[in-house]
Amino acid sequence: MIVETALGRVGFDDAGRGLPILLLHGFPHDRTLWEAQLAAPPAGARLIAPDLPGFGESASVAVPSLDHWADCVAATLDALGIERAVIGGLSMGGYLAFALWRRHPQRVQGLVLADTRAGADSAEGQAKRVAMQAQALKDGPAAIAEAMLPGMVGKTTRAERPRAVEFLDAMMRRASVAAIHDALEAMRTRADSAPTLPTITVPTLVICGDEDALTPVKESEAMYAAIPDAQLAVIPGAGHASCVEHPAAFNAVLSGWVQARFP
Ligand code: MLT
Repeated sequence: MIVETALGRVGFDDAGRGLPILLLHGFPHDRTLWEAQLAAPPAGARLIAPDLPGFGESASVAVPSLDHWADCVAATLDALGIERAVIGGLSMGGYLAFALWRRHPQRVQGLVLADTRAGADSAEGQAKRVAMQAQALKDGPAAIAEAMLPGMVGKTTRAERPRAVEFLDAMMRRASVAAIHDALEAMRTRADSAPTLPTITVPTLVICGDEDALTPVKESEAMYAAIPDAQLAVIPGAGHASCVEHPAAFNAVLSGWVQARFP
């Protein structure tokens, strides 16, 4: 579906009824990352998965920053007539969830932080983003998909779930060069969210695949320790894209948390 917001066109999918839970994809994904979650929304919850700016069916925006993207997410909530929602994000989507909490805390009813980290990019990490931008411009999205795929899934998925690997690979190859470029810029310049963690006053679910090499479990443990009202769930046999690699476990954790915290 498409919704026209004050800050541009947004493609999204929507499933279930009740507590709104917005699911923000990672890099370089699109909203289909959440296909398995939208196929089985938690009882009493409505899952909404938008394409982030420039990805999928969403328009790109003038300012490639996570703060501006957070305003875009708030505009999406406005356009859908939703006052408050649980904001969930995987990896880059988690970085965006932190920005949304800082800029629009009144819109955030809870947080789901999946396979993400609070810290900003190191100088070395920033240099890698710039190099990847150049690679995207030179060699196109397929080269970025090839570079990202090995870290995107865990060893169990690599060995046992070829369809999940193909699904993620195809998704990443669909991303446009412009979207890749802007997302890398937004991530490179993002704020350090570590000081934000103790300010989070809403219920928070931290999820991580135990084979996540890009944002290892220790990152999730640190977020869990610093956020006042957090729960931590580690998904066995899953890597960075835990919602795709082990959707049954991911969905069970999400449903359990929703039933316990938003009965
Ligand atoms: C993601 O999955 O969104 C990326 O790995 C995040 C990043 O590159 O920092």
